[in-house]
Order: sequence, then structure tokens, then C-alpha cells
Amino acid sequence: MIAAAEAGHGEGHIYDQDGLQSAHNHEFMDDPVFRKAYARGVRAAGRDYEWHWRVHVGLWAASWASRLPGDFVECGVNRGFLSSAIMDYLTWDSLGKHFYLLDTFKGMDERYISAQDRAAGAIRKNLTNLANGFYTSNTEEVRANFAEWKNLSLIEGAIPETLSQVQADQICYLHLDMNCSTPELAAAEFFWDRLTPGACLLLDDYAYRGYRAQKTTMDCFAQARGNMILSLPTGQGLLIKPGSTR
Ligand SMILES: C[S@@+](CC[C@H](N)C(=O)[O-])C[C@H]1O[C@@H](n2cnc3c(N)ncnc32)[C@H](O)[C@@H]1O
Repeated sequence: MIAAAEAGHGEGHIYDQDGLQSAHNHEFMDDPVFRKAYARGVRAAGRDYEWHWRVHVGLWAASWASRLPGDFVECGVNRGFLSSAIMDYLTWDSLGKHFYLLDTFKGMDERYISAQDRAAGAIRKNLTNLANGFYTSNTEEVRANFAEWKNLSLIEGAIPETLSQVQADQICYLHLDMNCSTPELAAAEFFWDRLTPGACLLLDDYAYRGYRAQKTTMDCFAQARGNMILSLPTGQGLLIKPGSTR
């Protein structure tokens, strides 16, 4: 076992991706179920973003949430890397849950970019991401990617305007990944009361370099509700909705 681990991502291997360098164990990268899910994400995106540890966190959160009552929501889907990996990992249609996937599918909406986000270069990054094809504007391609699953809705349009189209009474997994704070705060406020006790609120850019406005905004949101966000070395933030899960 040790030899196998050493040949993979156990002791002695350095993780060095996505702004994170670590000598700690990351054998999750050798798990065949993880590898298959990650590969499904790569297929959705058309390329490997090299963010294994962030996907590991996302799969852990989704797996935890899958045992709670409620549906899944992602705000900021793009080509569906993480959401496709999750649906593969959880054999999605067998769960009896619904996945609401919300995005403009044409990049940020400039009406909802705050002064702080603008100062951090959000408009420039948005134009770059659209021009180089990182942000998709091909909704048909996105629909084709998700066609293998039944229990999902793609909701196209700008958040906050589309939030009311999410019909879930209870939500156990909420992933916010829009790279700008105004729609992320709107989504967190809109869904908070519907999050079931134990639900995961996963923030992709909470501590990520270059997105400080998201951290300060979400810290205020959490503090106003008597909570604290767990800052992860991947750049993500994680909040578990308090309350008994029994
Ligand atoms: C970093 S990408 C999401 C990546 C995705 N979670 C993945 O796993 O690959 C950010 C996405 O947020 C979307 N977005 C930004 N502002 C938005 C808004 N106000 N409403 C809806 N979508 C928005 C963009 O169109 C873009 O697709």
C-alpha cells in the first residue's frame, strides 16, 4: 500500500496547482471514482483547469449534502466542470434530487458588478474570459453536455433576476461561482432560509487571489447570521448551515 501511495499522490509528492503548493497527502487524486468524476469535468470544459483539490472539496461537499433533504443549486456554471464531476460522482439521476444550474451563459452582467469588483478588474477579466473562450456563450453546447442526466434545470439569464425560477423548497448544496460579489450575495440572501440544516454553502472564490471583494461581502453576510466561513487553502470558502441534521 505504501509503495502504491508513494507512486501516486501520497507521502513524498508535492501538490502544486492552482495557487496551492502542499506536501500534505492528496491521495484523493488516485481514487478511481475521483479520477472518473474529474475526467467527466474535463470533458465538460474541454480542458483540464488543473484544480484537483478544489474539485475534491466540491465532491466532498456534494457527497455530504446528498444525504440531506433538499436539492442542489449552482450559480455560475459555465461549461459545467464541477457540476458535471459531481453528477458523475453521485450517479446523479439515482439520487432523486434536482440540480438547478444558473448562468447567463454569456459572462458577467455589467449591471451587477460592484465598484469594488470593478476596481479589482472584473470588467477586464470578464471581457478576456469571453474573448479567449473560457466563458462559454454556446448554450447548446452546455445543454448537450448535460443531456446524459434527467434531473436538472438549466436556468439561463442574469442573477438576481432568475433566482425565483428555482423551485426547490429545500436546498442542501449551494455553490456560488460567479467571480463577482453582487449576484453571489443576492443568491446567498435569497436561498439562505431554504438551506436545510447541515447544507453546504460553497464559495469558489472566497479566498482566491484577486477576489477580495467576495471575501469581505460574504464575511458580512455570514457575521450578520452569527456564522463564520471556513477559509480553505484552495481559495474556496465553506459554510455549513447550522442546525440539527437529525
Ligand atoms: C468561473 S465561471 C463558473 C465555473 C463553473 N462553476 C465550473 O465549474 O466550471 C463563472 C460563471 O459565472 C457566470 N456569471 C457571472 N455573473 C453572472 C450573473 N450575474 N448571473 C448569472 N451568471 C453569471 C458567468 O457567465 C460564468 O459562466
